[in-house]
Amino acid sequence: MIYLDSAATTLQKPPAVARAAAWAVGHLASPGRGGHMPARRAAETAFACRQAAAELFGVESPEQVVFTSNATHGLNIAIRSLVKPGERVLISPWEHNAVTRPLHALGAEVLVVRSPLFDRQGLLDAFEAGLDARPAAVVCTHVSNVFGFVLPVEEIAALCRRRGVPLIVDASQSAGCLPVRQDVLGAAFIAMPGHKGLYGPQGTGLLLCGGREAVPLLQGGTGSASVLQTMPDYLPDRLEAGTHNLPGIAGLLAGLRYVTGRTPEAIGKREGALIRRAAGELARLPHVTVFRARDPACQSGVLSFQVAGMDCEAVGEALSRRGIAVRAGLHCAPLAHESAGTLETGTVRASVSDFNTPAEVERFVWEVSRLAQSSR
Ligand code: ALA
Repeated sequence: MIYLDSAATTLQKPPAVARAAAWAVGHLASPGRGGHMPARRAAETAFACRQAAAELFGVESPEQVVFTSNATHGLNIAIRSLVKPGERVLISPWEHNAVTRPLHALGAEVLVVRSPLFDRQGLLDAFEAGLDARPAAVVCTHVSNVFGFVLPVEEIAALCRRRGVPLIVDASQSAGCLPVRQDVLGAAFIAMPGHKGLYGPQGTGLLLCGGREAVPLLQGGTGSASVLQTMPDYLPDRLEAGTHNLPGIAGLLAGLRYVTGRTPEAIGKREGALIRRAAGELARLPHVTVFRARDPACQSGVLSFQVAGMDCEAVGEALSRRGIAVRAGLHCAPLAHESAGTLETGTVRASVSDFNTPAEVERFVWEVSRLAQSSR
């Protein structure tokens, strides 16, 4: 099978990831829950993982790196920490349901800035104007999970800092393949999955905390300050109730070491080249519409397309039968599709990782061309 669904989760991982996760199952207990060897080893592994993440993402101290079960979990904590019911929140037009649903559930007043796909300057201008509404927070994805649009998040962060508005960055599609630096962004929170571009197992995620007060979603045991009936007021314990996912954390540590060794820049360059090749060849096919940026810096390793006369889900299923895994539909991001004018139809999405090859891209394009011919 040719796996082109890494925007959902990466499937091919560095071999060290599975080895570390399997070893953890029989060797690591619970950090902070005992002075015995398996508990101490667990604490060391968890700390090493926080430290590796802090170095990669420019976080001042490893304690500001909080383990979550995915990016959604981190975004929920971040939103609850900064936004009260009825308060205004400014978001980009490319947000995922992981942002819009928690805001809706909270009863926030959501202001969506509007700007065309792949228009970085337009988006920046729209954010600048939107900040006049004095929102309680800004939430912005770094990369659209549907179109691979790389948003100018550093410039948006600078605008937010200038206006004193806390920023939440959703780094779900950028962590591991673009530079994501807390020391550059100065964001209140940066949420990311461990299982996509960081190559960890599913069930892992990180929330980088930038100094704002954090509100726990869960209350429970932390192995610390046990006499208190409130959650500790210090990180990471404040946000980490209950037993940790040590097999996931051990695997994530191996993934972080892989990404650090390769560098996000080198991985992003490889993925960008693969997706540009796919986009260029698909765009030459009759009856295929490709959503691609003119400026290569504006698009990551994610590409949406449509085949005329064919339902997107049907394209996804046909490709699957031909041994190619893509994702079709709305990608849990109806707002992004509405913003691009594809809400009624959806798109087919191909997304690559560091483990895909040019030969796989060629085969994918060939299979799409056969489908496009047969659809007429
Ligand atoms: N948000 C993930 C995706 O885009 C799951 O597929």
